[in-house]
Amino acid sequence: YEVLQNTQKFNVKFAVQEVANGLAGAILCAEKYVHDEPFALLLGDELLVAENGQTPCIKRLADIYKSTGNSVIATMEVFGDDVSKYGNIGIKEETDGVITVGAIVEKPSVNEALSNNAIIGRYVLSGEVMGMLKKLTPRNNEIYLTDALDVLAEQGKLMASTFEGDRYDVGDKFGYVKANVEIALKSKEIGQDVKEYIKELANRL
Ligand code: G1P
Repeated sequence: YEVLQNTQKFNVKFAVQEVANGLAGAILCAEKYVHDEPFALLLGDELLVAENGQTPCIKRLADIYKSTGNSVIATMEVFGDDVSKYGNIGIKEETDGVITVGAIVEKPSVNEALSNNAIIGRYVLSGEVMGMLKKLTPRNNEIYLTDALDVLAEQGKLMASTFEGDRYDVGDKFGYVKANVEIALKSKEIGQDVKEYIKELANRL
C-alpha cells in the first residue's frame, strides 16, 4: 500500500522501443516527455541500493549537475577482462571526487582501456544530449549514447563520479539471485525468516 501511495506522487508515462536500435534509440523514445530539459537515465538491468546515511547515486549526480551545469555519469572501478564489459572513461582531472572526463571508449579491449573506470547505468544528462542523439549516425544499426558523451567529453562538458552503496547487475542470472537474497535479508518484514532459511539451507549443502 505504501509503495502504491508513493507512486501516486509521480506522473508515470511509458514509451515502447519498437526496434532494437541501441541505448540512444531507447532514450529518443522519451523525447516527447523530456523535450530539451535535463534528465536522469537509469538502466533497469542494474540496481543501486544506498544504505541510510549514504547519498543515493542519482542525487549525487544531480548535485554535480547543479553545481557544474554539465552532464554527469556514474562510474566504478573494474579490473582485468571486466573493463571490456562497459563503457570506459579517460580521466582528465579529479577534484573532491568529481572527475572531468577527457574521453570515452565503448567496451574497449583490455589494451584499449583508458582507465579502470567503467561507466555504470546511471546518468544525469543535459537537455542538449537529446538533440545530439538525433544527429548521430548509426553503427551496426544502433545509435550509441557513448558517441554523444564522447563529444561532450572532448568539449570538457562531461563529469563523472563514483557512488555510495551496493550495485547489483540484475541482467546477469547470478547477479539477479544475489540482489534478491541480499535485499530480502535487509527487509524488516521477511529479513529474519530469510536469514534462518539460508542458514538451514547451508547446512544441507
Ligand atoms: C550500456 C552502455 C555502456 C555502459 C553499460 C552499463 O551498455 O553502452 O557504456 O557501461 O550500459 O551497464 P549495455 O550494457 O547496454 O551493453
